[in-house]
Amino acid sequence: MKILTAGKNYFLWGDIGDDRCLKRFLELLKGLPIYLFYSEIPWSDKSLEYWRNKAGLFDKGAGFEEIIMRTGVIIKNCGAGDIFYNISRKNKEKVKELLSGYAPPFRKEWKIFYGAPYRNSDKIQHYSKPSYLVYHSKKNRRFSENSPEGRRSEQVLDWVFSHFGFSEGVYVVDPFVGRGLTARVAYRYGLHCVGMDINLGRLEEVIRWFKKRGVD
Ligand SMILES: C[S@@+](CC[C@H](N)C(=O)[O-])C[C@H]1O[C@@H](n2cnc3c(N)ncnc32)[C@H](O)[C@@H]1O
Repeated sequence: MKILTAGKNYFLWGDIGDDRCLKRFLELLKGLPIYLFYSEIPWSDKSLEYWRNKAGLFDKGAGFEEIIMRTGVIIKNCGAGDIFYNISRKNKEKVKELLSGYAPPFRKEWKIFYGAPYRNSDKIQHYSKPSYLVYHSKKNRRFSENSPEGRRSEQVLDWVFSHFGFSEGVYVVDPFVGRGLTARVAYRYGLHCVGMDINLGRLEEVIRWFKKRGVD
């Protein structure tokens, strides 16, 4: 476990499935002006195992349900603002079900189709703060096949940041930072990111990206 920083961006190298890492991450969130939760949540036990192996860990980590519940705990602790879950359509209902009780209910859903988000429904009314579910349509296969990795998500993030009124210096939370798309797009909009990832190499890549831009 280790915290890497680039300017006011904080990245915890840790496993969300590990109690000490989750606790440390929650401490990190405290006191920060958090405006948005935006993350691509791993999709299944299989994808968690894949990411674990990629990070050089070959033991059995926390399972999918446990990880989703812990993600819900983080969302709850964000305390304020908008919440976006960027997930596949396939797991939409499963993730929603697992998050209920941990995270606020969804108020709106946004569907991503050919890279462009459309408002799909506005089903859940009884919550004062907005929370959103973003998911990819299966129909955008052509788009994802022909596009470099991450492009689709980048368009989603661009859209999110350009459609909501953020003041500079607020934080976006992403407990699955990866190569830092959330952090990078946030930076373009004058926001900071606080995140976590199990893969130190990936976080170091994110730090290098910031350093190249004079953010240390
Ligand atoms: C789909 S990627 C996220 C991609 C990211 N949005 C980006 O722009 O690169 C999922 C990330 O979750 C991380 N991850 C998977 N399991 C994790 C765990 N148990 N704790 C923390 N991070 C984890 C992986 O290392 C991977 O970088």
